[in-house]
Amino acid sequence: MNWFITLFSSTLGKKLIMALTGLFLITFLVIHLIGNLQLLHHDQGRAFNTYAEFMGTNPLVQIISKVNFALIIMHAVWGLILTIRNRKARGSQGYVVVKNSSPWTSRNMGVLGTLILIFLVVHIKHFYAEAHFGNIAPANYDGTDVKDLYGTVVHWFSVDWYVALYVVCMAALGFHLWHGFASAFQTLGINHPKYSPLVRFVGRAFAVIVPALFALIPIVMFFTHGV
Ligand code: HEM
Repeated sequence: MNWFITLFSSTLGKKLIMALTGLFLITFLVIHLIGNLQLLHHDQGRAFNTYAEFMGTNPLVQIISKVNFALIIMHAVWGLILTIRNRKARGSQGYVVVKNSSPWTSRNMGVLGTLILIFLVVHIKHFYAEAHFGNIAPANYDGTDVKDLYGTVVHWFSVDWYVALYVVCMAALGFHLWHGFASAFQTLGINHPKYSPLVRFVGRAFAVIVPALFALIPIVMFFTHGV
């Protein structure tokens, strides 16, 4: 047990936690994106509401959802600890100005992560809390009532500043993933001269495509429902 505590209180252990939780959250993003793309069907929300009803009521999904929340908190707390530790280490170099040659994204993971965390607090309040504890009117499909969560999404994505907030936060998510994806593989030791360029390419493609599609949803909904 002692080795376990020593490992996870070391910098390497914290980086391992960041990599493993980060990779889980990347998987969540893919599933969440596929679900949210149902919003773009021209069906008054039927496909999205049916998907949301399944995700909101299936017992296995509910367990995974709790794990997801726990991992988000873990990723955020450990990330904050690592960022503060790195800042202190840089600060202890005194007045000597050392030019940091690491890329902008790598140096600003803490700031980008904090922006994403603020986005998540707003997002969970308006969508998750509303879906699970709010008073959403039902939609009826073939005689079955399901919550009309689509109506809630349409409501928020008709608000210009809200759409702008989502787009800015998706840019932050893109920059965060730009560094985070390949960095997770490096921490896990998957660092082979033959495969690393491929991992970097896939990571960067992911960092552009996934947040861009997330941002596209509020933009399309704003122009089809909001104006
Ligand atoms: C167009 C963009 C997005 C839309 C329309 C959207 C929509 C939703 C909705 C409707 C829910 C509540 C579903 C339910 O619990 O039944 C939800 C939950 C959630 N969303 Fe999003 N989302 C978007 C982007 C994102 C992004 C980019 C992230 C992460 C950075 C995110 C993270 C989450 C999390 C963590 C939950 C709680 C899920 C759980 O139960 O574990 N969402 N989202």
